Amino acid sequence: MYELMLDTANLSDIREGIAAWPISGVTTNPSILRKEGDIDVYSRLAEIKKLCGSQRSLHVQTVSTTTREIIEEARFILDRLGCDVYVKIPVSAAGLPAIKTLVSEGVKVTATAIYTTMQGILAGLAGADYIAIYLNRMENNCIDPFVVISEIRSFLDGMNSRSKILAASFRNISQVTSAFASGAKGATVGAEIIRAALGMPSINAAIEAFMEDFEAIHGAGQTMMTITKMKKAAVNSAAFLRLK
Ligand code: E4P
Repeated sequence: MYELMLDTANLSDIREGIAAWPISGVTTNPSILRKEGDIDVYSRLAEIKKLCGSQRSLHVQTVSTTTREIIEEARFILDRLGCDVYVKIPVSAAGLPAIKTLVSEGVKVTATAIYTTMQGILAGLAGADYIAIYLNRMENNCIDPFVVISEIRSFLDGMNSRSKILAASFRNISQVTSAFASGAKGATVGAEIIRAALGMPSINAAIEAFMEDFEAIHGAGQTMMTITKMKKAAVNSAAFLRLK
């Protein structure tokens, strides 16, 4: 199954996303939380989780830098927010052993801060549920993210892994579509990416042209629904006149 998630901690974006777009989860990180200003982090995350309900996933990142502390922090997060939360852990020297331990305990893990194929392979072998690849940051560092995605994809397919590539860190729509085309099973995007995708001027120009053609036939303000009513009204009044 392919997935689209929202990469934000902004409540109005999340409400809009859940109501209007095919969103299967919300991903956060400390920088995303910082953008929200002076918030109580756990209250905000609890609120996001409530909005997500049981149908959508919430991903929360640890910030500790030693394996022992990452594991403790992950357990604390689950204690506060519920064990269905995905704990995001960077694939680093300290993070990888924490991922391995937590996965063996049944914790849901999103391996993150992935820039290289090797990090993706290690996260897949450690059994992470999602493998979050940082597209835009990779391109900023002259790393081709699409090659990395397709290499990790082949590796995961080869080992029949259930780990899913979750492309992340986007600045434009084309990065998202290319990530899926390269083998990502999911993408986590800011609300502005979806708004830009739906706000393309050609889309509205096409809709306006269709409307003008329809109005040229049936008159201003008419739709497929009102012309049926109009026709019914015309038939009824003709029948009425015949009876007279
Ligand atoms: C998501 O998992 C990442 O934390 C996020 O997409 C990073 O994005 P950025 O490069 O826009 O900060």
